[in-house]
Amino acid sequence: MSTSGTNHTVTIKDSATGKETVLPVMHGTAGAPVIDIRSLYKDMGLFTYDPGYTATGSCQSKVTYIDGDNGILQYRGYPIEQLAEHSNYMEVCYLLMNGELPNAAQYKTFEHTITNHTMVHDQLVNFFRGFRRDAHPMAILCGVVGALSAFYHDSTDIDDPHHRMVASHRLIAKMPTIAAMAHKYSIGQPFMYPKNNLGYAANFLHMCHAVPAEEYKVNPVVAKALDLIFILHADHEQNAGTSTVRLAGSTGANPFACIAAGCAALWGPSHGGANEEVLKMLTEIGTKDRVPDMVKRAKDPDDPFRLFGFGHRVYKNFDPRAKVIQKAAHDMLEELGLHDPLMEVALELERVALEDEYFIKRRLYPNVDFYSGFMLKAMGFPVPMFTALFAIGRTVGWISQWNELIEDPSQKINRPRQLYNGVIDRNYVPMSQR
Ligand code: ACO
Repeated sequence: MSTSGTNHTVTIKDSATGKETVLPVMHGTAGAPVIDIRSLYKDMGLFTYDPGYTATGSCQSKVTYIDGDNGILQYRGYPIEQLAEHSNYMEVCYLLMNGELPNAAQYKTFEHTITNHTMVHDQLVNFFRGFRRDAHPMAILCGVVGALSAFYHDSTDIDDPHHRMVASHRLIAKMPTIAAMAHKYSIGQPFMYPKNNLGYAANFLHMCHAVPAEEYKVNPVVAKALDLIFILHADHEQNAGTSTVRLAGSTGANPFACIAAGCAALWGPSHGGANEEVLKMLTEIGTKDRVPDMVKRAKDPDDPFRLFGFGHRVYKNFDPRAKVIQKAAHDMLEELGLHDPLMEVALELERVALEDEYFIKRRLYPNVDFYSGFMLKAMGFPVPMFTALFAIGRTVGWISQWNELIEDPSQKINRPRQLYNGVIDRNYVPMSQR
């Protein structure tokens, strides 16, 4: 491998054929450089093998930067800690979508636009009634978000920038309404319409917790904490959910269908479903004295159990979101005068795991999901709603990355290759001879 300014290259030699090729290395503004292998098959007849894409860059992006070794997360260049402290979710949405922080007039217009798109087509209500009452909110989200493409035909032309913008606004605005409807449906209460005099997070709390029979006042401490949770989940570069959105988007599918695909990927317990699993796990542990048993199970190679809320593909020293959320969870519980015994179990689990050789060696630290569950529980959300809340926050990231994909002339339909290990060249045998 030779490195010299912009002429940085990697030479690959195939020992079987003696063929050789020189591949350019591309440098971004930050992060590890990447080898441009696009000509590899043409020049060498070789593909690369990387299950789980552990070393593969799938796109160029200007949205979010992560340095996993140093625990850095930046949206459009702004550190997550600064945004968590000084910004709010609406402003972060504008930033992610447009690349710059808004001035006062831009902010006002954007907030007004989102607020005025929060209602859903009235016929969607009938759609909800088709679900079982005990349907998981993520099952409903996957279905209803995909169904938006059947309701909003005037924003599905992906080649029209105006259509794309309207679809983006609709998705950010309607996601909380749909998630709140899923919650209300599961508990048998009437749907609550959005209220335009409330902020984004406060409006969601209202739609989830209010009933038509009486006045409901949103607790500002809770609304602020939820806004923070949305900020921390807003984007995370090419994670599984976002890559799924991009992959679906690369085929030219409409944005509602692509975000529904993102919801499906997020739902898994290794990804956004982990926040739900963390609370289940802590409840199962129950008391501090049972922590060592669980840690022992998590270390056992013959036991598929893993500590949920621990470990991350990219963060290998700490998850900066976990640091912010741990403090926020503690502050919120204190401000509300709530005591959650599971918090003690969590702190003990974190302490024991962080001192354990197994976790130290594998660089496993609490991730954002480890603490978000406490806050969501204290806010009155049932555990199955946790991943839906993650999806609300992440929608802006998905949509920003999807827009970037559509506007990127180098993007092609995403179509990985494979290493075929199956049988070949067999002749069909009639059933009577098998
Ligand atoms: N508990 C116990 N062991 C673990 C854990 C865990 N939570 N996470 C990883 N390990 C171990 C693996 O068994 C493996 O051990 P080995 O080297 O002896 O085989 C080693 O650590 C490396 O793990 P990988 O699975 O190779 O790491 P990968 O990057 O593929 O996985 C993941 C990352 C999926 C997040 C994993 O750490 C995990 O399953 N964690 C629990 C689920 C979770 O919290 N997910 C949320 C992620 S954050 C998010 O999506 C918002």
